[in-house]
Amino acid sequence: MPEKIYTYESDEIEVTWDKFKCIHAKECVHGLPGVFNIDEKPWIQPGKSAADKVAKVITKCPTGALQFKRKDGGEKEPIPRRNDLTLVEDGPVYLKGNLNIKNLDGEVIAEETRAAFCRCGKSTNKPYCDNSHIKAEFKAGTEYNPERLLLEETDESGGELSVTIFPNAPFVVEGNYTLNGSDQAISTQKKMSFCRCGASSNKPFCDGSHKEAEFRSEE
Ligand code: SF4
Ligand code: FES
Repeated sequence: MPEKIYTYESDEIEVTWDKFKCIHAKECVHGLPGVFNIDEKPWIQPGKSAADKVAKVITKCPTGALQFKRKDGGEKEPIPRRNDLTLVEDGPVYLKGNLNIKNLDGEVIAEETRAAFCRCGKSTNKPYCDNSHIKAEFKAGTEYNPERLLLEETDESGGELSVTIFPNAPFVVEGNYTLNGSDQAISTQKKMSFCRCGASSNKPFCDGSHKEAEFRSEE
């Protein structure tokens, strides 16, 4: 997982931007163009707006590339009360919530509220998306087979969401979560394996195709 983190500060807030996690979703640029402006240098100038507004826009960055620390005693980023996985057409899956990202030994390697996970298998920053799906011309819809989740539907939606990264294989989600596609959203607590090699014929779920595809995740 390469990291290139840049820091931008005002008296009230410190903003960090992880270049390798940014996939130019542009929530920041659209949300607060006076602060996030790619035509200016530096491209982030947090002093140009109230810290509350800067913080609010940062929480909309779907990849977690943007983070903040308040220097003025303002509130930290709240942990979302609901865990969401949102499928992006021909692209990654956005994870939002109380995310505990773990390795196969169960060690927590990252605690996040926002992340975009690669599902084409081509990212050089796995498990995170780096926009390689565009060059790879990855095709994946946002629909999914609801039968896989319906047996364990739940009204609960929050709490810790454990996300375990299996080397050369899927990632496995355990906890309460809602899986959002373009025309359906099912809340469940079903432990599920999600494809990240791009080869499953039952996307977004893993169907074991990673073995035949000889997927190498190289985290
Ligand atoms: S919202 Fe996040 S991913 Fe999108 S352009 Fe801004 S920093 Fe990059
Ligand atoms: S990770 Fe893609 S089929 Fe298992």
